Amino acid sequence: MPKRVVYNNVFKWAFWAIEGNGPYGKIVKRMNIQQKLKQIEEQGLKRELIYLDRSGADVVHKGKRYLNFSSNDYLNFAADTRLKDNAKNSIDKWGIGATGSRLMSGSLEPHKRLEEKISQWLGYKSALVFGSGFLTNLGLISALCQANDIVLFDKLDHASLIDGIRMSGAKWKRYKHKNTNDLERLLEQYNNVQERIFIITDSVFSMDGDIAPVKEISKLAKKYNAILIVDEAHAIGIFGEKGAGICNEQKIKPDIITGTLSKALGSYGGFAVFSKEIEQLCVNKARSFIYSTALPAVCAATGEKAIDIIQEEKVLGEELLKKAKMFYGKIQKAGFDLLPFESQVIPVMIGDNDKTLKFTQALLEEELFVKAIRPPTVPKGTSRVRLSITLAHTKEELEKALEIIVRVGRGMGIIA
Ligand SMILES: Cc1ncc(COP(=O)(O)O)c(C=O)c1O
Repeated sequence: MPKRVVYNNVFKWAFWAIEGNGPYGKIVKRMNIQQKLKQIEEQGLKRELIYLDRSGADVVHKGKRYLNFSSNDYLNFAADTRLKDNAKNSIDKWGIGATGSRLMSGSLEPHKRLEEKISQWLGYKSALVFGSGFLTNLGLISALCQANDIVLFDKLDHASLIDGIRMSGAKWKRYKHKNTNDLERLLEQYNNVQERIFIITDSVFSMDGDIAPVKEISKLAKKYNAILIVDEAHAIGIFGEKGAGICNEQKIKPDIITGTLSKALGSYGGFAVFSKEIEQLCVNKARSFIYSTALPAVCAATGEKAIDIIQEEKVLGEELLKKAKMFYGKIQKAGFDLLPFESQVIPVMIGDNDKTLKFTQALLEEELFVKAIRPPTVPKGTSRVRLSITLAHTKEELEKALEIIVRVGRGMGIIA
């Protein structure tokens, strides 16, 4: 055999082994996984699943009851009797699963009704329901943005937006959190350079609970002829007239709003509102819409009923924010490091990963169900305990939680 052929074969074999297709490659891969897990653990970043015996306003784990501060069920709808009865009727009529993707066999009457309701609620021509909020952002952005576009997005945008941007193949740049000067610097840089400019931001940021300056961002989008997408996942149902969100409250109309049924609406699923053309583009191009089983009818029917209740009762969001503000004031007075109050999401900033874990563990021992939020969910050095206030919390429960958080915080030297 000529030397060149031998060398080629050796090279190919080595490549095959290292790539992980051969027996040695598998060993290499296995070691990598173990090493990775060890590294995650050493950095204090290991995540574990806890299986609950009951979820809701309070959760039960191994027979012990905890007060839940880790839920996005902001309006306490997930166990609402009106919604449960409505869901039972929907299951009786439609069964459990949607049986196929929206295009194949899964576009059902409850989807249509929900889409009509959402588009009216938020004041847009069209709405489209997806399997989840994550799938909405992933599918919409990757269908809409292209390689010759530039996407400018907030540094703290949700992972689903970032993954959608990456999947689209568009060029992207992050601007400093909520910093419209930095955004304008990038808009100037790319104006007339890229085919289209997109700006993408959360309205309420999921881990900081603060609110994007959407009014100024919207002005900049107009000035530079950019397409604006706002993710209202944590604002829908709470802010704005009849819970229609931050954009409604601040009287702006982005090109697209995305949202979820899975937080304040107490159901599961995601949606986007936009023009009829963008809807058609998503139906034809959004891979997470086309190649995934449709949202079950029961989730759509629950979403629709939840919107009805929010529109009828009008003040649920106000009530929630009032409660959250009161709680925030007391935690702040105790000396904890907090960001300014803006929403029902209250992060207690700790910084160090291990300290955050220990604080969380101590609060769990005192029967408060809280979670440590660490990198990569939040930037390095900003680990925190994210307290999420819901309408389920009574005044007495909040007082009790406050007493525990202050006592544990003092005991650990987090506050003086
Ligand atoms: C800002 C934001 N967008 C989208 C999502 C995804 O929504 P869903 O939970 O419905 O997938 C989340 C979820 O945490 C979020 O915080």
